Amino acid sequence: MINTKETDDNVIIRLKNITKKFGDFYAVSNVNIEIKKGEIVGFLGPNGAGKSTAMKMMAYLLKPTEGEIWIRGNGELEKLANHNKDYLLDNIGFLIENPFFYGNVTPRVILKYFAELKGYPYKKVNQRIEEVVEMFGLTNWIDMKLRTFSKGMKQKIGIASAIIHNPDIIILDEPQTGLDPQARRDVRDLILKLKKSGKTIFLSSHLLYEISEVADRIAIINQGKIVAFDTLDNLESKAKKSIIHIELLNHPEEHNLESVLNHLKEEITPLTGVSEELNWIKYNKDTKTFQILFNGDPKNQLSILKRLLAHDYEVIEFSVPKAGLLENLFIDLVKPNTDQLSNDTINKKKKKHKKKLLIEE
Ligand SMILES: Nc1ncnc2c1ncn2[C@@H]1O[C@H](COP(=O)(O)OP(=O)(O)OP(=O)(O)O)[C@@H](O)[C@H]1O
Ligand SMILES: [Mg+2]
Repeated sequence: MINTKETDDNVIIRLKNITKKFGDFYAVSNVNIEIKKGEIVGFLGPNGAGKSTAMKMMAYLLKPTEGEIWIRGNGELEKLANHNKDYLLDNIGFLIENPFFYGNVTPRVILKYFAELKGYPYKKVNQRIEEVVEMFGLTNWIDMKLRTFSKGMKQKIGIASAIIHNPDIIILDEPQTGLDPQARRDVRDLILKLKKSGKTIFLSSHLLYEISEVADRIAIINQGKIVAFDTLDNLESKAKKSIIHIELLNHPEEHNLESVLNHLKEEITPLTGVSEELNWIKYNKDTKTFQILFNGDPKNQLSILKRLLAHDYEVIEFSVPKAGLLENLFIDLVKPNTDQLSNDTINKKKKKHKKKLLIEE
């Protein structure tokens, strides 16, 4: 199915039956992923799921126990092997988790080092460094020592080093972890800018919102296995569920919260299009929003809004955030990891999910 000539033309990276064992432990287990030219693929999974291990294999830092990795170097899709690794990896920029830089060097020195390491044309290096530094908004910092940089700025330098040789493919392992919201947004904007310039990006994260904002497709990995790989819209429509967030002008008080919730349940539940046993309406005290599970159909969404307004609820926010469903799916799919279930139970659980989701076994 995945080997037709037509799909091959668009594929820029292929992981075929990739398995990595450490002793008897399967860190990555029979993973099949194809990344197409120009797309952003988000790689989600809990701690220890196998994200970094899979990404390191793509960068030839680790050798798969089984399976093959194919990379489009210069035109052709080729199998990554020792004899061609340097040539193929020149087409990839790779950011490892938590890059470490010595404090007494400057961005100019680091970027020059990486550009030369990756064989970027010597005469053009200086101009390229200035371009990239400008793209990251760090022009004034180009000759400053890294020890004076904030974590977010260092992370940007990490990403800049990954792309300094202008590769077509960019692999970023948790580029946003540990950053504040502004720095996260900067990195998110940068990723979108890179996509716009035609790059293909594979990025891992725990940050569901960040992934849902940038990724064209999302691969979810749990205990070394890919449990879902699709667009967010498709994941959403396969799950046939979504969540509406509602904020009222006057937030409910502790003493009347239950009666408001009961009234909402009575009025809204029949309009959600979700079966009775799945139905829920919750109130999040931190965000002061009501959350309602519904079938994702815009018609139901509209009926719910109309009903609220008909009952004089003063609605000041009524939205269906993209990340809401992703969060549910994620928690649902990775649950076995925290429950320490046996493989049998996990398999049964996956079969149950298969009805709702595209699951690669
Ligand atoms: N060199 C190694 N030797 C033995 N086990 C390893 C090695 N590298 C990784 N592992 C194990 O493989 C599993 C996957 O690790 P990996 O670092 O790929 O997870 P991850 O998804 O990147 O997690 P995180 O979100 O915490 O970064 C973990 O259980 C880890 O302990
Ligand atoms: Mg990791």
